[in-house]
Amino acid sequence: MEVKVFNNAQEIAVACADIFTQQLTEKKNSVLGLATGASPVPTYKELIARYNDGKISFKDVKTYNLDEYCNLPRDDKNSYYTFMHENLFNSVDIKEENVHVLDGNAAEPEKEAADFDAMIDADGGIDLQLLGIGTNGHIGFNEPSDAFSDGTFKVKLTDSTIKSNSIYFDDDSMPRYALTMGINSIMKAKKIVLIATGASKAQAIKATVNGEVTPLCPASILQNHEDAVLLIDKDAASLL
Ligand code: PGA
Repeated sequence: MEVKVFNNAQEIAVACADIFTQQLTEKKNSVLGLATGASPVPTYKELIARYNDGKISFKDVKTYNLDEYCNLPRDDKNSYYTFMHENLFNSVDIKEENVHVLDGNAAEPEKEAADFDAMIDADGGIDLQLLGIGTNGHIGFNEPSDAFSDGTFKVKLTDSTIKSNSIYFDDDSMPRYALTMGINSIMKAKKIVLIATGASKAQAIKATVNGEVTPLCPASILQNHEDAVLLIDKDAASLL
């Protein structure tokens, strides 16, 4: 696992967009694993700028998003489906049929999860997976637990995640469950890039980089990946 430290979020966005640009240049029909949250937003802005400059195209790209809330309408302002369209998809030339966001309202979540993993496999696997990290070390919504998860599954969110994400929701309306790609689904990606900024992520980054590989810090599994890079700012790196 490689760790690169930057001065600020904008420098990270440029470095992360460079990795995406190289991927899309080498393989125009790349399969991208994408993330939501505050961390990837500057990267998506940079990718949109490069698309507008004619440097990259998403015309033949397929995307799979890491996770989605359960019991939230797909067009809710806080759904990850909406987030991805507002922050990237509506501004580039990706085809809607190539966009895959889990259906958090599926009548049979287990089938939805299994179908999602099967579709990724049928598309040849994820070439490049983008990740954020929770203050509790989660990746996707793989929360700290006593075992690493396997494929995509329905998860009960922890209090820490509910506290972090409820700032986006009115009152107490934040969903308590989500569908998420599992640790094994994530680890099967050929290349992984994780971005983190701010002192609130320093403890999770320390456990990820210097701690033992443990499901108590799900991101620590990235130590076992052959091609994973962490792009972090000085504050997130402050405990390394
Ligand atoms: P953030 O979330 O980018 O909004 O900090 C990251 C995460 O929880 O995975």
